[in-house]
Amino acid sequence: MIQEKFPKGFYFGASTSAHQVEGGNVNNWSNWEKENAKRLAKEEKKNVKFWDEKRLEGQKAKNFISGQAADHFNRFSEDFNLARKIGLNAYRFSLEWSRIEPEEGVFNEEALDYYHKMIRVLKAYNIEPFLTVWHWTEPLWFSALGGFKNKKAPKYFARFVKVVAERYKEDIKFWITLNEPEIYSMNSFLRGIWPPQKRGIYNFYIVMRNLAKSHRRAYRIIKKINPQAQVGIAKNNTYFEAANNKFINRTLKKLADKYWNDYFLGKIAHRQDFIGLNYYFHDRIDGSFRQNENRKVSDLGWELYPEGIYHVLKDLKKYNKPIFITENGLADSEDKHRAWYIEEILKNVGRAIKDGVDVRGYFHWSLLDNFEWAHGFWPRFGLIEVDYETQGRTLRKSAQKYTDLIKKLSQ
Ligand code: FCB
Repeated sequence: MIQEKFPKGFYFGASTSAHQVEGGNVNNWSNWEKENAKRLAKEEKKNVKFWDEKRLEGQKAKNFISGQAADHFNRFSEDFNLARKIGLNAYRFSLEWSRIEPEEGVFNEEALDYYHKMIRVLKAYNIEPFLTVWHWTEPLWFSALGGFKNKKAPKYFARFVKVVAERYKEDIKFWITLNEPEIYSMNSFLRGIWPPQKRGIYNFYIVMRNLAKSHRRAYRIIKKINPQAQVGIAKNNTYFEAANNKFINRTLKKLADKYWNDYFLGKIAHRQDFIGLNYYFHDRIDGSFRQNENRKVSDLGWELYPEGIYHVLKDLKKYNKPIFITENGLADSEDKHRAWYIEEILKNVGRAIKDGVDVRGYFHWSLLDNFEWAHGFWPRFGLIEVDYETQGRTLRKSAQKYTDLIKKLSQ
């Protein structure tokens, strides 16, 4: 049991991203999904080793096309009502760039108004909006120019940032410019498994560099427009564990920490007011990487290792910035582990706070079931279950557990 209260004003929230929940998007992903759905359906069988009845849907091409997604675009009020019911006082979501700037330099007023309305509903419900400017999807014109591989990408991004920072300056205090730069750069430009399926270490390096530049420019723009704004990124850090404290394992850990966990944060060190942490992975190093025990795993086969968040948080202390856990969660269609996982995670967050780490918020991924990128719809990450046939919503049992924990831990 967790005994102690969390600091006053702690944010208990949940996260989503535009493309994963909204439906009806036209961007680089929606095109790519249509072209690749059949192939992905075939490959998914190889990728996921423990298919059961429920996950058979993951072998159909339809699973891999976002289409109407969770229809959050039309149902956000209903979803925010449920968020309120859970007891959330914060919500992280992203803008869909392709709606706001469908053609280069042409900004869509309706789309800008739409997100404004969304933000106002959140505020009316006393839910603090944490706004992600870019969560991986791109307008088609931007992709045609090479996306973040293009030298001019930071300039294009800055133009978009300026428009939205002006528009929402009164309402948004917390800005997250970019989501998980390494995951995007790796999957899209190194391993070539996400659009635009480019490969190579050089691509990876260039894209990372352009993303860091994009963030730094965005930071300056947002702060100029509203000096009170708090600006950061959502950073995917892994807990690398050196097994048995062996020298070789410690050396590998040092390298992994340096390049995976700290590299990007180092490049933007003086241009961030807080650190947003996305925690999903533990990597136990014993002679080589990924020697995990995997005692408990999610439906995607990702190890559930809540202690890891304690170590990652302790490690982030050196940056001397407030920390928000901007994502953490699991694919669990039967809701078998979620309640346990949330409680264990919050216990470990509490431990880190006690040890002097300045953690100010926790956002569960996700508020509702959604489109999990190249895996499509079958992984179920939501506190709210979505029936994709009817778009009906049901609170999962674990959401009740989260409610209880919020009550217990809030001052
Ligand atoms: C993170 C992404 C998020 C979601 C979760 C499961 O890497 O930021 O969009 O897909 O993983």
